[in-house]
Amino acid sequence: MKKLVVLSGAGISAESGIKTFRDSNGLWENHRVQDVASPEGFARNPKLVLDFYNARRKQLKDVEPNTAHKLLAELEDFFDVHIITQNVDDLHERGGSTNIIHLHGELKKARSVDNETEILDWEDDIHLGDLHTDSSQLRPHIVWFGEMVPEMDNAIEIASQADLFLVIGTSMQVYPAASVVRYVPSHCEVFVIDPNLENPNSFTRNENYFKASATEGMKKLKQILIEKYK
Ligand SMILES: NC(=O)c1ccc[n+]([C@@H]2O[C@H](COP(=O)([O-])OP(=O)(O)OC[C@H]3O[C@@H](n4cnc5c(N)ncnc54)[C@H](O)[C@@H]3O)[C@@H](O)[C@H]2O)c1
Repeated sequence: MKKLVVLSGAGISAESGIKTFRDSNGLWENHRVQDVASPEGFARNPKLVLDFYNARRKQLKDVEPNTAHKLLAELEDFFDVHIITQNVDDLHERGGSTNIIHLHGELKKARSVDNETEILDWEDDIHLGDLHTDSSQLRPHIVWFGEMVPEMDNAIEIASQADLFLVIGTSMQVYPAASVVRYVPSHCEVFVIDPNLENPNSFTRNENYFKASATEGMKKLKQILIEKYK
């Protein structure tokens, strides 16, 4: 089976009703990212940050995976699909995909502020005073700007083994996540699905660019991949 590696971003979840980040003037749900997605923001106002992610986690109960998430899962019948996502939602999982790396963490996990490897499954709100078993405050298991990206090495290894590579719904503005494309082998065919990117060729070479929403782009791509590679 050919290995299809996918780098996804907020745009794949847009049609499920979760707002992207760049399309909202660089604000994330009306907040400046440095206030809600940085260690400094958390140190300044931990309640604001916990409440922000509590709201994002609650929103997951009101949204469903869309056709793009589901078609990626269906491609597992034909390809060895590996998803590297920048998203913190759980829509790839609920869409049925099985091999998923979350580069920027997951809303439905929490961790100790003092130990990034002490990660717990978490469904509910996190409040100030909620402690991990190591007696330190719990925080969302989210990789904030300026923090290390622990899954980066795994993502690079998977990308370097790709036969086919898809970039979907990401502005490719957030590093080091965007640099994953640099590790894609030169023989690999690269596809990009995004309705807005002005110059997709600026981040890899000779992509097949679908200027389309995630759902429309995935319908076309699924057909093309199956016809060409099966
Ligand atoms: N769903 C989520 O988990 C979520 C949502 C917002 C932000 N974030 C975080 O913020 C960061 C933002 O970076 P990013 O590059 O992922 O997102 P981004 O907001 O920077 O870029 C979104 C991209 O999606 C495209 N897009 C918009 N609507 C689309 C659609 N219907 N179909 C396909 N593409 C569409 C836009 O043109 C843009 O290129 C990420 O690191 C992520 O962790 C996550």
